Amino acid sequence: MKQLNEQMNLGAFVFTFGHHFAAWRHPDTDTNEVISLDYYREVAASAERGKLDMLFLADSGSIPLSDAESSARFVYPESTAVLGAFAAMTTKIGLAATVSTTFNDPYNVARRFSTLDHLSKGRAAWNVVTSTKEGDALNYSMEKLPEHGLRYERAKEFLDVANALWDSWEDDALMWDKQDGIFADKEKVHLLSHSGKAFSVLGPLNIPRSPQGRPVIIQAGTSPAGSRFAASGADVVFTACEDKEEAISFYKHVKGLLPEFGREAGDVKIMPGLMFFVGATEAEAKANEEQFYDLIMPTAGVTYLSRMLNTDLSGCSLDEELPEIELEGNTSRAKLIVEMARKTKQTVRELGMHYAVARGHMKVTGTPEQIADVMEDWFRSGACDGFNIMPPLLPGGMAEFVDQVIPVLQRRGLFRTEYTGNTLREHLGLKRPNSQFAAGETRSMQEEVTK
Ligand SMILES: Cc1cc2nc3c(=O)[nH]c(=O)nc-3n(C[C@H](O)[C@H](O)[C@H](O)COP(=O)(O)O)c2cc1C
Repeated sequence: MKQLNEQMNLGAFVFTFGHHFAAWRHPDTDTNEVISLDYYREVAASAERGKLDMLFLADSGSIPLSDAESSARFVYPESTAVLGAFAAMTTKIGLAATVSTTFNDPYNVARRFSTLDHLSKGRAAWNVVTSTKEGDALNYSMEKLPEHGLRYERAKEFLDVANALWDSWEDDALMWDKQDGIFADKEKVHLLSHSGKAFSVLGPLNIPRSPQGRPVIIQAGTSPAGSRFAASGADVVFTACEDKEEAISFYKHVKGLLPEFGREAGDVKIMPGLMFFVGATEAEAKANEEQFYDLIMPTAGVTYLSRMLNTDLSGCSLDEELPEIELEGNTSRAKLIVEMARKTKQTVRELGMHYAVARGHMKVTGTPEQIADVMEDWFRSGACDGFNIMPPLLPGGMAEFVDQVIPVLQRRGLFRTEYTGNTLREHLGLKRPNSQFAAGETRSMQEEVTK
C-alpha cells in the first residue's frame, strides 16, 4: 500500500530531558531548567518554527525507585497542564497530551480537552492510553491493573462517552440572544443519559462545542485489541517500530481494519517514532551518538527493561540471556522485546542498552540528508504517514532537527514550508466530525454505548 499523501505529518515528541535514557546526565542538560516555562517555550518555539504538526507529551502515573540513578528518566509533569502553557506560547502548532482511561472519568477528561481546544483555537489532541505500569495502579487506589482486555473495554466506553459529550452541543446551539435572554437553543443541547458497564453520565458537557468539534484522538497500542480500538475511533496512531517491513505490515493491517468501522484509509494517520543522531558528517553523527552511550549507567538498561516487561530483572545476571518472562496479559511491546531477545540471543546487558537508547523506536544516525533519505524511504514505501520526532536531548535537539533535517525535507517537497490551516485537524488533513446529535447523523457510537 502506497502512502496517500504527498507530504508527511511530523510530531514533536517532547520528553523531559530528551528521549535518550541518559539525557539528564548529558553535559548540555541544565537540570535547573526542566519543568520550567522557559524549557517548554524553547521546545515549542523550535517545533513551531519548523512548521511541525504537533507537540506531543507522553504521561505516566508512577516513578520506579529501584534504580535511583536512572529514575530521572521517568519524571513526567502532568501533560494537560503543560498543554495549557503550550497553548499560550504558540499560535499554529497542534498540542497533544496523554491521559489514561484507566484512572480517570470521561466527564472530567472531556471537559479538559474541550477547554484546551477552545483556548488553543482548535489545536488540541488527546493520546488515549490504557496504562501498562503496575506501579500506576498503586497510586490510584487499586491493588493491580485491570486485565488488558478489560482496560480496552473501559477505554472504548470512555471514548464513546467523551465523543458524545463533545457532540452534546450542536455547532449552532449557541444563540446569544441578548434581547430575549436566550443563551442556547435547547433543542440543540443534548442529554446522554448514558448508563454503561463502567460509567454513568447524564450530560450535556458544560462547555459548548469546541473549534475542532472533537479534539484529535491519538492511540498508541499495537495489540489486536489496541489496533481495533484505534481503527474504531482514533485519528492518529503512534507506534514504535525498528524495522521497515514490520512498519509496512502494521500500516497495512491498521488501514485494512478501517472499512469495518465505516472509515477510509485517509481517516487515520500512522506515525512511528524516529530517534536521530545528526552530524555534519556520518563520522560526526556517530561520535555524537557514542557520547550518549557512555552516559548510560550499567544498571539503567535493566531498569528500563524491567519497566517495559512488567518484571523485576534486578536480580538476574547481566551477562546471560533474558530469563522466562510472563507474557500472558502483558503488553504487545513486552512481547516484541521478548521475541527480539530470543531471536538475537542478546544478553540482558546488551538488550537493556539497546532499548535504553530508542525504546524500540527506529533510530537513524547520520547527516541531515541521510536522515531525510530514511524518512523518505519509509514514507514512500507505505510504512507510515509521517513520524513522531524524538530528539535525544531537549530542548536543544528540537532546534537541531528543525534547522538541519526539515530544510532537506522541504527542498524535496516532502514537508510544508508554511502552515496552510489553523487547526490540528487541518494540519493533519482530517475531516471535522459532525455532532452525532445533528439532524441527519446516525448516533451509532452512542447507541453502541447504551446497548
Ligand atoms: C509512541 C508511543 C507513545 C506512548 N505513550 C504513552 C504514554 O504517554 N503513556 C502510557 O501510559 N502509554 C503510552 N504508550 C503505550 C500505549 O498507549 C499502550 O498503552 C501500550 O502500547 C499497551 O497497549 P497494547 O498492548 O495494545 O500495545 C505509548 C506507546 C507508543 C508507541
